[in-house]
Amino acid sequence: MAESEVEKSYGRCALNSKFIDRFYEIFLKSHPDIGPMFKNTDFVKQKVALRSGVATMLMLDSGKAMAKVTLDRIAATHSQKGNLKIPHKLYPYWIDSLLATVKECDPEFKPALELQWRSALQKGVDYIISHG
Ligand code: HEM
Repeated sequence: MAESEVEKSYGRCALNSKFIDRFYEIFLKSHPDIGPMFKNTDFVKQKVALRSGVATMLMLDSGKAMAKVTLDRIAATHSQKGNLKIPHKLYPYWIDSLLATVKECDPEFKPALELQWRSALQKGVDYIISHG
């Protein structure tokens, strides 16, 4: 299956070694409730997990059903029944923080791509919330 424009954009972002660091810099400051959630986090592990989590979200968006296995697991840990109990009101901050980071790190970023990114991330977040 061919790579989507968003997957190609993520590929360009991944070439920037600072991409995931920058995401967490922005995300942890985006809302007062978010920073404290990561106070005991092993960020070496977390950054690897998030890098593959985002790739999986983009696979879901481009119709690769196998992404659901990983997203179901993330949905379980992040749900109100899981150990993280992430309030749904905080997901827009996750989407906006990732988009702000892509804007900074993708040298070929353009407004049309922003719409595609936002739709792909919203689809992934909706999946995580509805399967939690
Ligand atoms: C408001 C949105 C979110 C918040 C506040 C949040 C918060 C967290 C926290 C606190 C952890 C545990 C870190 C630790 O081990 O100390 C975690 C783990 C993780 N998060 Fe999120 N998260 C959010 C959204 C997402 C989304 C949308 C994804 C999808 C890519 C994601 C992927 C992961 C992954 C892969 C882990 C590693 C553990 C696991 O696989 O469950 N998170 N998150």
